[in-house]
Amino acid sequence: MTRPLVIAIDGPAASGKSTLGYHLARYLNYLYLDTGALYRAVTLAALRRGIPIEDEARVTALAESLPIEVRPPQGEDDGRQYTVLLDGEDVTWALRTPRVDRAVSPVSAYPGVRAALTRRMREIARRGSVVMVGRDIGTVVLPDADLKLYVVASLDARARRRFLDRLAQGKQVSLEEVRTDLARRDRIDSSREAAPLRPAADAIILDNTNLTAEETFREAERLVREDC
Ligand code: CDP
Ligand code: CDP
Repeated sequence: MTRPLVIAIDGPAASGKSTLGYHLARYLNYLYLDTGALYRAVTLAALRRGIPIEDEARVTALAESLPIEVRPPQGEDDGRQYTVLLDGEDVTWALRTPRVDRAVSPVSAYPGVRAALTRRMREIARRGSVVMVGRDIGTVVLPDADLKLYVVASLDARARRRFLDRLAQGKQVSLEEVRTDLARRDRIDSSREAAPLRPAADAIILDNTNLTAEETFREAERLVREDC
């Protein structure tokens, strides 16, 4: 029996891509990479270093040189799926602040930033047995992926999920703020010229508006088995 060696999962914000990707990777014993973390790490570093987000040249230079490391969790008991190290510092949770949420889509629209990070992603995927999650994995980063899933859910469902996640993390946000951020990022991500958010022609669309995370996983597991 052969399994799909490279699995690409894309979709809009808070659709449940990383939850699905993480569990699928664990189930298959594959490497898991949430590529949004790389875009968020570049954004966080720019904000911390006082580089204006509008300064495309400096933000791009940062993406080309930044020491970002993503590794599996090592016993931290805080619900993380991975650990991100920026210059050796654990920034896993610092990547998920409203400040980064606001700036990440403009940063991700810069072609030079995308080129630099796409290179890193392909490097990681070279050994195969990987589940990679993002916006353009099936269309641009890994167009030859063996299985491509595009996860969608209604904006209301996604806003509710992200709101509950933030509450559980002790964050002070309103449902309306979360909803506005998701809608704004989806708009920028879908309309940018470089690698816009859209399903690959050969992607399977998984609408999980009315599914639990567990049911979504079961559906994907079935598709993985079918693909064998
Ligand atoms: O978790 P959430 O869906 O809210 O966002 P994320 O996956 O962490 O991605 C954050 C942002 O990074 C997205 O809104 C995109 O602007 C960008 N991104 C991208 O452009 N391409 C990717 N492959 C992954 C993320
Ligand atoms: O990675 P992405 O931004 O697409 O979403 P996520 O960070 O995986 O967040 C999805 C949240 O919705 C998590 O709290 C999941 O437990 C929950 N959820 C899901 O992933 N899938 C469903 N079908 C229903 C809820």
